[in-house]
Amino acid sequence: MIIAIDGPAASGKSTTARLVAKKLNITYLDTGAMYRALTFQLLKSNVDFDNLDKVSTILGNLTIDMYDHKGTNIIKLNNEDITEQIRSSNVTKNVSEVSALLIVRKSMVVMQREIGYKSDCVVEGRDIGTIVFPNADFKFFMTADIKMRANRRLNEMNQSATVKTFDEIVLDLEIRDDKDTNRENSPLRKAVDAVEIDTSELTIDEQVNKIINHIKNN
Ligand code: CDP
Repeated sequence: MIIAIDGPAASGKSTTARLVAKKLNITYLDTGAMYRALTFQLLKSNVDFDNLDKVSTILGNLTIDMYDHKGTNIIKLNNEDITEQIRSSNVTKNVSEVSALLIVRKSMVVMQREIGYKSDCVVEGRDIGTIVFPNADFKFFMTADIKMRANRRLNEMNQSATVKTFDEIVLDLEIRDDKDTNRENSPLRKAVDAVEIDTSELTIDEQVNKIINHIKNN
């Protein structure tokens, strides 16, 4: 079984998808973390994103492991724990440019399908219901008011060292959503058969229950 959850930045996908997977006792796949891991590696190796040969070599040598540890989705890249580094503002600023590259998308989709074919999964991203798993058993598209989304990001950031103002976060989210929505390859889109959930006024439990109830009743 594949449950696809797509939506814009900070719409509540990650927390919801992780908890839905836990409740159903199936795998959780955060595809955004994969694009972030690649972006982290390209920045670390000083690779120009236009240098497709180098990007391709790095993609070919990318070993990403993801697993849950006490409620945190741990991301390892070639055995190094990069869970925190992939959320840095530098990775966040650059990830949309990297994820717009066709060679990147082609290779990521292959990896994501391999995982999805092996086990039942909740897969979260931007193009899961449209491109990666168009035949997913269930599709959801999560949205939320930009101010709510910025507030959630601000709260997450208060727990880390990064300091940004509310207005800076709003702008960051708008820029990233704009790039993700308007790119040529696999843009952020609601699949026609996806159920839209506006999480602006919902608690995490309510978001999770909406999805679980929909799955049980259909
Ligand atoms: O958690 P947040 O909403 O900040 O974003 P994310 O899910 O970690 O995704 C980071 C970035 O990866 C997005 O802004 C997209 O540019 C890209 N992405 C993508 O292109 N396709 C996906 N399936 C998932 C993420």
